[in-house]
Amino acid sequence: MTEEKVKLSIKGRKPNIFVVEDDALSAELIGLLLERFGANSRIFSEPFDFLRELESPVLQPDLFIIDVMLPGMTGIEVLKRIRQMREYQHIPVVLLTSIDDFHFKQAGFDAGADDYLNKPFNSIELGLRLRALLRIKEYHENLEEIENVFRTLVAIVEAKDIYTKGHSLRVAQLAEAMGKELRLPAEDTNLLYRAGLLHDAGKIIIDSHILNKPGPLNQDEWAELRRHPQVGAQFLTQLERTSRLVPLVRDHHEKLNGEGYPSGKDYRQIDFYTRILSVADVFDALTSARPYRDSLSVKDALTVIEREVARGWWDPEAVHLLKKVVLTGEELAG
Ligand SMILES: [Fe+2]
Repeated sequence: MTEEKVKLSIKGRKPNIFVVEDDALSAELIGLLLERFGANSRIFSEPFDFLRELESPVLQPDLFIIDVMLPGMTGIEVLKRIRQMREYQHIPVVLLTSIDDFHFKQAGFDAGADDYLNKPFNSIELGLRLRALLRIKEYHENLEEIENVFRTLVAIVEAKDIYTKGHSLRVAQLAEAMGKELRLPAEDTNLLYRAGLLHDAGKIIIDSHILNKPGPLNQDEWAELRRHPQVGAQFLTQLERTSRLVPLVRDHHEKLNGEGYPSGKDYRQIDFYTRILSVADVFDALTSARPYRDSLSVKDALTVIEREVARGWWDPEAVHLLKKVVLTGEELAG
């Protein structure tokens, strides 16, 4: 096999590969190979220049190749920074090193590397590995596209109901902040964010007169509204059968004492991330105005939520987490 036989592409276009390599000779070689493989490349000799570029890249990167030994910070530190940025979490990363050290490799994989290559590397092997990683990137892109369709659904839902405008985004940001407070891995805080954005996607099938009704719902309307978690979960099951989003969306109105809907699950069946999402959802609902009441202050909303904890609805640990996020240190102590 020759280098020319390895052709890199993603969704039928040239992939954009960013390389961070301070060794000029090695950087030049990689740039040349990438060109031969049919990819666009951007080479950075300085990790800080690279990270600055990522803040508003001219080309959208599809893959990163990062040398482990860099001036100022290690490639593993660069990788950790990348994984903290939501938009780059699913971009494959290949670490390059001349050190054949298992512990270094392990640290790299722990930080979220997808592959490792020792220098000097075989050029065809590099091409084949990049090709495999770009397929994974392509898969993620497809999922993201479908997820964007659902986000559009949410925007339509929110357009039907002026009272919930911005609700999903606020729940997403709050649930994510709670995950960060817990120091969850980036992948999991991202899951909470996505679940927040999509939790009410199933409301697309609910008639707008129900969503906007100023008074209390009658029994039929209430039964109709209660279908939205299950419908949202069904949408997402089509997105990805094993999606971790599904249980969060399906169970976000369940209560620990079994009084919630759609299934009346109890504390034994409701996982902790769902509990975080539920609390974020309730908090945002209480602090926003609804057709039948004004918005509550943060303090009053927390009082209501505490009362509901006592009734066995919400997880006290999740509520404590919520307080840490929405209250200042002083308020928390008081
Ligand atoms: Fe909901």
